[in-house]
Amino acid sequence: LDTRTFIKYLPKAELHLHIEGTLEPELQLKLAKRNHIQLKQSTVEEIKQTYHYHDLPSFLEVYYSALSVLQTEQDFYDLAFSYLTKAAQNNIRHAEIFFDPQAHTSRGIPFKTIVNGLYRAIVDARALNIDAGLIMCFLRDYSKESARKTLKEAINYKDKILGVGLDSDEHNNPPLKFVRQFEDAAAVGFHLTTHCDLDQKNSIEHIRQALELMDVERLDHGTNIVEDPDLVQLAAHRKIGITSCPHSNSLGNPVMKGKEVIELLNKGVKVSINSDDPAYFGGYINDSYNAIAQKFHLTKAQIIQLAKNSFETSWISQQAKTLYL
Ligand code: HPA
Ligand code: ZN
Repeated sequence: LDTRTFIKYLPKAELHLHIEGTLEPELQLKLAKRNHIQLKQSTVEEIKQTYHYHDLPSFLEVYYSALSVLQTEQDFYDLAFSYLTKAAQNNIRHAEIFFDPQAHTSRGIPFKTIVNGLYRAIVDARALNIDAGLIMCFLRDYSKESARKTLKEAINYKDKILGVGLDSDEHNNPPLKFVRQFEDAAAVGFHLTTHCDLDQKNSIEHIRQALELMDVERLDHGTNIVEDPDLVQLAAHRKIGITSCPHSNSLGNPVMKGKEVIELLNKGVKVSINSDDPAYFGGYINDSYNAIAQKFHLTKAQIIQLAKNSFETSWISQQAKTLYL
């Protein structure tokens, strides 16, 4: 088998994927029409022309502004079901999907509309041989008080949510800002993860807080942990999942940050490959595996290890893990 075909048929778990980041221009236009929302752009090409980012905030501006078309439970269902269809085609067997409730409740959309729509798609997608769960992210540039309220709502839907994470603009919003909300989330049984993005001046400090003070199980992005050998050792020892996203890490140039992935893989750290915001960065998961595999001439054993890491650091049951490991 050539590497591309091998990757295509390899069973994989996706652990770092923002459902809002799967909103393709075609669906955006369809939902705008359905909900009678006037967009500035009227064609796929015009929308794609707005996809220019030079840093995280400039990406987030495009990402949040597209969300106005998501209004009804059916809209959230359609968004999730179209991602899950693509994920199944990529031979993803398990997906842990981030969603950003505050990006919708702040526009007047009820929490239940979001969760019920996403969850119904997850149930229906089981027929495609993919199982999935939801991870609720707090927007870290919103207040602690807003996070507290959001967590309170999430607790009412505990059976539909696997865990909590932190995303959005990291600058001046360290993990420790949400230490109380993470403690409360852990106390009711939610799993914990947090974005520690690359190219943030304070990201080593943020990684340290997340691992040493907040007991997260995974770091999203977080590959620049390689700058601190003690933290690398801690991550290896605790089997912390590091969810790298080759396409978004380097704002669309999928190979720029691959070196760290290989270094972590060689050190036995549980690093995995994921697609993050595939509608915006031009690659679903197989594209991301292919980019890394080609640039660094990965062996099949190394590619298998990346996929195994994705299942091992997922939040499926120990029993289900034995199917894949
Ligand atoms: N980083 C931070 N916030 C985000 C991202 C990301 O990669 N994607 C969507 N929100
Ligand atoms: Zn992300």
